[in-house]
Amino acid sequence: MASETLDCTPKFPDKNVTYDNYVKGVLAGHCTSCHQGGKSPGTGNFTTYAGVLAHADFFLSRVISPNADMPQGMPQLPKSTRDSLNIWIYNCTPEK
Ligand code: HEC
Repeated sequence: MASETLDCTPKFPDKNVTYDNYVKGVLAGHCTSCHQGGKSPGTGNFTTYAGVLAHADFFLSRVISPNADMPQGMPQLPKSTRDSLNIWIYNCTPEK
């Protein structure tokens, strides 16, 4: 769990956005059709917490930023969803 051992201080400690209570649902709804490991076209396996963490470094540029290109071939996620994912990243990607 490399990302968990990195020194990281939550930037929005009053916001409770976790993998379990939020991120998992977003990924299941918009991403795991392509990102589920095996022969799926997308990089990695986003159906588990560990699988997502391995690619979390790319979420700001590929999913959250105004230039985000994921989900591939579809409109960007709503701004409110991207804002919540941004909080999750800056809060050190908590699981629970
Ligand atoms: C239609 C298929 C498809 C969907 C849906 C999709 N992706 Fe992807 N994604 C890809 C493919 C293919 C790649 C690998 C090629 C590339 O990097 O552009 C990729 C690459 C990525 C990467 C870069 C990973 C790395 O380590 O280089 C991230 C992060 C990512 N996707 C996040 C997401 C998220 C989050 C969602 C849902 C909001 C999503 N994707 C939805 C197909 C998809």
